[in-house]
Amino acid sequence: MTVHILDDKNSLLNKFISEIRDVNVQKDSMRFRRNIERIGEILAYEISQSLDYQNKVITTSLGTKIVPVPKNDIVLCSILRAGLPLHTGLLNYFDDAENAFISAYRKHINETEFEIKVEYFASPSLEGKTLILADPMLATGQSIVSVYEGLKNHGTPKKIILACVIGSTEAIELIKKHFPSTTELWIATVDTKLNDKGYIVPGLGDAGDLAFGEKL
Ligand code: URA
Repeated sequence: MTVHILDDKNSLLNKFISEIRDVNVQKDSMRFRRNIERIGEILAYEISQSLDYQNKVITTSLGTKIVPVPKNDIVLCSILRAGLPLHTGLLNYFDDAENAFISAYRKHINETEFEIKVEYFASPSLEGKTLILADPMLATGQSIVSVYEGLKNHGTPKKIILACVIGSTEAIELIKKHFPSTTELWIATVDTKLNDKGYIVPGLGDAGDLAFGEKL
């Protein structure tokens, strides 16, 4: 698996990451959602450099120009509900992608142990396509692995790209074992710790709650 960590170099991305982590800025849920969306847009731009291109002849009012354009058939797949703002950002740039939505949640057995429940699946065929699997918080990695297992019934993608905002080193090690070695991970930033509830530390807290409000 190739891992691309985007905050390795200084860019405006770091400002957006700082704001989604900051407890004072997080109170503004619209800014939180929009910052995740902006990070999705940056991820999309970076990911676009690894796609396949074909030349297209474009006619302007004054002549013609050959322009290389991406030729991949993209399926953009997100995990409900925290994934929605990231999905919007990616879709803003990959505007002709097909879309898949899957629900996954942590069903707690006790305070610290949980299993991943995958229930709702809406996906087109993935056969021969480029699957971009988006998950804002790659904490334990168990959700994205469970979702990928479910997607295997929908055909074999030609290329798999994982798009994430914050990840843990533990999750990256787990997904390396479960995804094909040709998979690319594009991630804004990586933290080294998880707490005993499986949350990324320092992370940002619960991305779904920060974007959409607390749930029961
Ligand atoms: N989901 C989140 O929103 N945050 C974490 O830290 C882990 C899972």
